Amino acid sequence: MVLQRNTVNYLKPYIPGKPISEVKRELGLDKVIKLASNENPLGCSPKATEAVTKWAENMAIYPDGNCTDLRNALAKKLKLKPTQFLFGAGTDQILEIIAATFINPGDKTITGHPSFSRYETVTQIMDGELIQVSLTHDYRFDLNSILNNIDEKTRIVWICNPNNPTGTIITAQELNSFLEKISKEILVVLDEAYYEYAKGGDYPESLELLDSYDNIIILRTFSKIYGLAGLRVGYAISNENIIEYLNRVRGPFNVNGAAQVAAIAALED
Ligand SMILES: Cc1ncc(COP(=O)(O)O)c(C=O)c1O
Repeated sequence: MVLQRNTVNYLKPYIPGKPISEVKRELGLDKVIKLASNENPLGCSPKATEAVTKWAENMAIYPDGNCTDLRNALAKKLKLKPTQFLFGAGTDQILEIIAATFINPGDKTITGHPSFSRYETVTQIMDGELIQVSLTHDYRFDLNSILNNIDEKTRIVWICNPNNPTGTIITAQELNSFLEKISKEILVVLDEAYYEYAKGGDYPESLELLDSYDNIIILRTFSKIYGLAGLRVGYAISNENIIEYLNRVRGPFNVNGAAQVAAIAALED
């Protein structure tokens, strides 16, 4: 019998919510609205569908591993350098790449509780430990308590903003004050999967922090507002140094061609 790593004995597989078709069949319902995965109920841009239909003629060809066109389109839109992006098969995959790049066995990472469950799994896969700090009484990340839980083993803080599952935000002022206080040797991952739904008001414009802080990675995705969850494409934004390390760990053709053309079309629509 082959032997799995000891760590694998403690991992739990991710159990997604049931597909709508299964719930309909099981309960005899005609109309089901699924809230669990935060998919876009309006679907994707018709231009994305059109782009994928056209792309389908090229299925025999490996995708562009560098995501060049998508990279350039995003760099132009966000006024950043193309080399400041890393693409993944969903931000899920980028979380794995970040963990594999920065976590040594015995290292710790920290997040709020409850928050997005993958922070725990990706930490455990690397033989690290996730410290979960209770949210405040109004269901928000408690950044002071997170700072108090940092020790010499801490490598990453995962900040889910807005937080899944509570939908609360941390404000620009709170984030600035946190980044001022935290050691510059600790990576701060700002998971902004729901950025487009939250932007404006007190919500931080995190791209503006990139020039001041070398220890942040911002994560965004095409799965939510762009309605492309089925194709799996998300991106990380950081400084060129961090992106270069992440690229050493990333697999060669990790974002498929359909996802790349759909994301570009959706961005432009
Ligand atoms: C907070 C958060 N981060 C990351 C993800 C992963 O998104 P994806 O891998 O589809 O980009 C999700 C999806 O539900 C999420 O809620």
